[in-house]
Amino acid sequence: MKLSDQARFSTICIHAGQEPDPTTGAIITPIYQTSTYVQEEVGRHKGYEYARTQNPTRFALEKNLAAIEGGKAAYAFASGMAAIGAITSMMKSGDHMVVTDNTYGGTYRLFERVLRNYQLSFTYVDTSRPEAIEAAITPQTKMLFIETPTNPVLRLTDLACASEIAHRHDVRVVVDNTFASPVVQRPIEFGADMVVHSTTKYLNGHSDSIGGVVIATRDEDIEWLQFIQNSQGAILSPFDSWLVLRGTKTLAVRMAQHNANGQILAEFLETHPKVKQVLYPGLPSHPQHELAKRQMRGFGGMIAFDVGTMEAAYSVCKRVRLMALAESLGGVETLIGHPAAMTHASVPKERRAAIGLTDSLVRISVGIEDPADLIDDLKQALD
Ligand SMILES: Cc1ncc(COP(=O)(O)O)c(C=O)c1O
Repeated sequence: MKLSDQARFSTICIHAGQEPDPTTGAIITPIYQTSTYVQEEVGRHKGYEYARTQNPTRFALEKNLAAIEGGKAAYAFASGMAAIGAITSMMKSGDHMVVTDNTYGGTYRLFERVLRNYQLSFTYVDTSRPEAIEAAITPQTKMLFIETPTNPVLRLTDLACASEIAHRHDVRVVVDNTFASPVVQRPIEFGADMVVHSTTKYLNGHSDSIGGVVIATRDEDIEWLQFIQNSQGAILSPFDSWLVLRGTKTLAVRMAQHNANGQILAEFLETHPKVKQVLYPGLPSHPQHELAKRQMRGFGGMIAFDVGTMEAAYSVCKRVRLMALAESLGGVETLIGHPAAMTHASVPKERRAAIGLTDSLVRISVGIEDPADLIDDLKQALD
């Protein structure tokens, strides 16, 4: 089970960080559900002292995710928000961050309602416009925090271009890659310094765990992340680490189906007379389709579409039978939702309007069911 340096992506997903268990040879890393480790004498141990600091199941997942994203090291946290919180702890009072304006509502809430109290400041810009990034950077700017594609309007940022601008100003580039997954997009290849995921979504993929991870490339960031993970203690549990590890083994095949189903449903919706607009990077009608082809491998499983009125949007969400009306995304089952009232309710109405998040928008996280069944369901809900 030695992984060669030339191993391809799906092989890395299955094998990276995975060694047979040293005690029994178990092929799957066990759930080391322990709080502490017995030492032979004071200071003599096997590298494990206390389970907030070291846990073999979490370590196996962290190695796996670092390899999948092409980073140097990864640190797993209790949720995606805890992972984002750990990154922001690199900033000091007075520092400034430039953020994609259409970022996840919970990220916006953390920045605005919590971190502003610590004298950090944030400027939200349309990072799909390089000149907007450049204009927002000040001498105090320490980080550029990008989401691409954005949730839920699926706007893209050119990662190579944004990284070049940020690095010219000595600004760290962080990409929330939750929406795309590392199968579809690997931001470090385009210059990002850190990648963050809510592992709750595609990485775990089965809607049965909450977690987060930061993958880093620079030694000083790695040192800090390890320190803060232990100091703040918002670690991912052994069981959740095991679940996500099980998820990443099938990541490549799941994403292939999410990509295929996403494209099929987007094309179907674009032809439906009740649908005013479909937002999906895989459609030639998407304003950044060319960038999507350059930067993404497949276009993911997230679709947003406009049905004209809030009543119509509520009606579609209510009438679907196979699709489940629920928050979250990235699981094998298809979920539908109304972003303005659900995932983005914490974003003020004026800000929602500014980023094109209308009350008539419906979002689908396309699962891996047979796409014909998904089309049947949407047809009956729309008709
Ligand atoms: C893009 C994105 N980032 C971060 C998060 C936060 O992750 P979690 O819910 O695991 O804390 C979410 C959750 O929906 C998300 O969609």
